[in-house]
Amino acid sequence: MNSSLLRIFTRDITAAIDTRLYGSFIEHLGRAVYTGIYEPGHPTSDADGLRGDVLDLIRELNVSMVRYPGGNFVSNYRWEDGVGPRSERPRRLDLAWTTTETNLFGTDDFMQWCRAAGTAPMMAVNLGTRGVQEAIDLLEYCNHPGGSALSERRIRNGYRDPHDVRLWCLGNEMDGPWQTGHKTAEEYGRLAAETARAMRQFDPNLELVLCGSSHRGMPTWMDWERIVLEEAYDASDYLSLHCYLAEGSARNDADYLASPLRMEAQICETIAACDFVKARGRHKKTMFLSFDEWNVWDSRRHENNFPRWSEAPGQLEQNYTMKDALVFSGMLLCLLRHADRIRIACLAQLVNVIAPILTTSGGAAWRQTIFYPYLHASRHGRGALLDTRLDSPAEDHPEWGQVPAIDAVATHDPDSGEITIFALNRSPQDLPFQAHLDHGAWTMVEHSVLADEDLEATNTSTQPDRVIPRAAPPLQMEGRSFETNLRRLSWNMIRLCPRSA
Ligand code: AHR
Repeated sequence: MNSSLLRIFTRDITAAIDTRLYGSFIEHLGRAVYTGIYEPGHPTSDADGLRGDVLDLIRELNVSMVRYPGGNFVSNYRWEDGVGPRSERPRRLDLAWTTTETNLFGTDDFMQWCRAAGTAPMMAVNLGTRGVQEAIDLLEYCNHPGGSALSERRIRNGYRDPHDVRLWCLGNEMDGPWQTGHKTAEEYGRLAAETARAMRQFDPNLELVLCGSSHRGMPTWMDWERIVLEEAYDASDYLSLHCYLAEGSARNDADYLASPLRMEAQICETIAACDFVKARGRHKKTMFLSFDEWNVWDSRRHENNFPRWSEAPGQLEQNYTMKDALVFSGMLLCLLRHADRIRIACLAQLVNVIAPILTTSGGAAWRQTIFYPYLHASRHGRGALLDTRLDSPAEDHPEWGQVPAIDAVATHDPDSGEITIFALNRSPQDLPFQAHLDHGAWTMVEHSVLADEDLEATNTSTQPDRVIPRAAPPLQMEGRSFETNLRRLSWNMIRLCPRSA
């Protein structure tokens, strides 16, 4: 069999898709902040130094929420350094990335940037070198209306209205020995629970994210989840997952293209850990997931040798290929497929650092290959995930078993009434693809295809539109079905709108 069939049950909703599934991440790392989102003097920057060309691209991507300020950076960050008059902010050594942090951009500046970008903040507190007190200090600074020392300090700094940050990460990757202030699961679980309780004494309605394992290969994988959840199940709302897939870890292209199955396994196993602790502790609530770092990242493919303690060197700048965009699309499909448990996801990161947007200092900003699948899903994958059944040809893989050549999900947006099919063809052949909807009358309005004969093709400052989605001619539907060809090694978005009688 080389044809595939997607059956779509148009009235069966598997999950409401949380808008925060289309989140992202800005860390004080490399040029994400400096010469990324913030560059005083850039021709497009406003009076506060926020780059207008970058803001335009982020608004286009429709990013619902952005995590800040790290990442590994947060575990040695003093938030007080980044607020108040810029001339008084200290220069500090950042141990996580061995750079010098000027602190010219900080918490208030980020909140202002979020407003300009039309996005919401997700803040992380430092549980590496700091603890409960500094976390509740930052919370008071950000969210208290006034009349206390820290809220008045914010007001003096020019921000009368509270920032009202609703979503907070309790540290970052605390299981990793690379993390400043790394902890055992018992130590972290205890500290996270104490911090969470203190934060909830300030505001019981905050949403709090507990650190899960940094990745599936950690020696403490699953034990970490169990112990940390046992300590902090009731005190938190989400458990975090991180996943970076690397071409360098794959044996060949087929292996790399199958690697989103690793993320699929990671999600299923993490859900199992959450449900085990729920059952064992006889907890009532369900633990949801925050996939707050995900992307394709191959450290062999960017420069790593920067002089220690440089200011905003070009760290982790990866030029994404067409092949990367296919793997990225597979990851996006995993997130959507599990929208019933994954409420939050952050594409890591947003600008320059392993990012869909690249900039040059003083120059242009452009869209990488991975920009487009995210754009498609973020624009049209809103609303509800529909129940589907997919039959696809598959290849056997030594680790993952049967790897389907086609992967697909379908969503329904109640605002537009549209159903959108997102489909990946990871096989080196064009494949016939049939879709059948069980109810209603539908017209195809768009079939957008991201593909390139050269899998190594990238977008650059001189060729920013080398790899862009192209429109395939929309097809006439036959009853409630259509059949099309999915181009080899392609990402597809097919939009159907209800046909008026
Ligand atoms: O996103 C880059 C880094 O990857 C983050 O700082 C860290 O949390 C992860 O290991």
